[in-house]
Amino acid sequence: MADFEQKMTDILNYGALNLAMAIGYKNRIFDVLQDLDKPATLDEIAEASGLSKRYLKEWLAIMVTGGIVELQSAGGREDAYFLPPEHASFLARKSNGTNLGVYTQEIPLLTSCAMDSVNKGFETGEGISFSKYPDFQQFMSQLADAKHEQILVEKFLPSVENGKLVERLTSGIRVCDLGCGQGVALNLMARAFPESEFTGIDNHEPALARGRQQAAKNGLANVVYRNMDAAAICGNKDFYQKFDYICAFDAIHDQSHPLEALKGIRYMLVPGGLFSMIDIKASTVLAENMDHPMGPFLYTVSLMHCMPIGLNDNGTGLGMMWGRQKARDMLKQAGFEHVEILDMEYDGFNLHYLCRAS
Ligand SMILES: C[S@@+](CC[C@H](N)C(=O)[O-])C[C@H]1O[C@@H](n2cnc3c(N)ncnc32)[C@H](O)[C@@H]1O
Repeated sequence: MADFEQKMTDILNYGALNLAMAIGYKNRIFDVLQDLDKPATLDEIAEASGLSKRYLKEWLAIMVTGGIVELQSAGGREDAYFLPPEHASFLARKSNGTNLGVYTQEIPLLTSCAMDSVNKGFETGEGISFSKYPDFQQFMSQLADAKHEQILVEKFLPSVENGKLVERLTSGIRVCDLGCGQGVALNLMARAFPESEFTGIDNHEPALARGRQQAAKNGLANVVYRNMDAAAICGNKDFYQKFDYICAFDAIHDQSHPLEALKGIRYMLVPGGLFSMIDIKASTVLAENMDHPMGPFLYTVSLMHCMPIGLNDNGTGLGMMWGRQKARDMLKQAGFEHVEILDMEYDGFNLHYLCRAS
């Protein structure tokens, strides 16, 4: 088969496989197969999962022909299906930091939310309202759970200034998470550092309500959630030099007015305060992203969500792949003279822009 014909065949197969894997992830079939921990018949999988045998049979055929699940059908015995542990470790919820299964849901979710609107956007150039993505915050929380639970308190925060930030968090400082969504990171930090005070800022009320609810459930008295537009913070005297440390996890590239949001962050920091911007690892120059291991995936997420969201309110429509050169320039324009761009060995998707307010 000619090279490109083969590539097209692979694309059709892998696209279909991604969709089926998303369904498997949502219905916890990978978790069930992991727990079974041995080759299992269709009846055994149906019983362990409580799912329809006929649907499972069709789904397992996709997983077997797609090389995700192994088929064992020797000696006239009934077919048995086995999820190898080395596959399960990337697909099941108990994957200890390498959960890529959760990402299989992203393109199907964005397709169901925004396919028509994106097609229309090609004609009109208009943005897409956040309300078109009703399940998005819930999905972001799943991603945040998968990422932050294992990493935030144990690896990320200790890496900031060689442990000095953790010392300060332990003795008590004021912290803000900008674009906190449903507050997964914020609540984890608040629980780990009871002497510090935590403020989550977002402009999506349902997400904030969920964050508050989880904080209350965990008895966290050191966390508050504020409904604010990040672009309108600068000049709000109540927030002038209010925080010692600010973080923003994957939140700046979604802003309609990212420069204003960064200026707001600079405004809220005390002199010498720190800002950790965690954002997508990419180059601003397309040609430099040719070897990006997830280029098409991330540009597609951007097309289906980040870019049209960022076009709202006469926004810049920055897009998820804005890249480190543009990020560094924008941070500088916002008043951050000292920016270190750091790789994180436990997070291949993102860069850590560590900024100090002079
Ligand atoms: C990709 S989500 C990241 C959420 C969270 N930090 C996480 O890692 O799960 C981006 C967040 O930025 C918030 N956001 C977007 N524009 C905003 C604005 N102008 N002001 C405040 N928050 C905003 C969204 O509501 C959303 O919760």
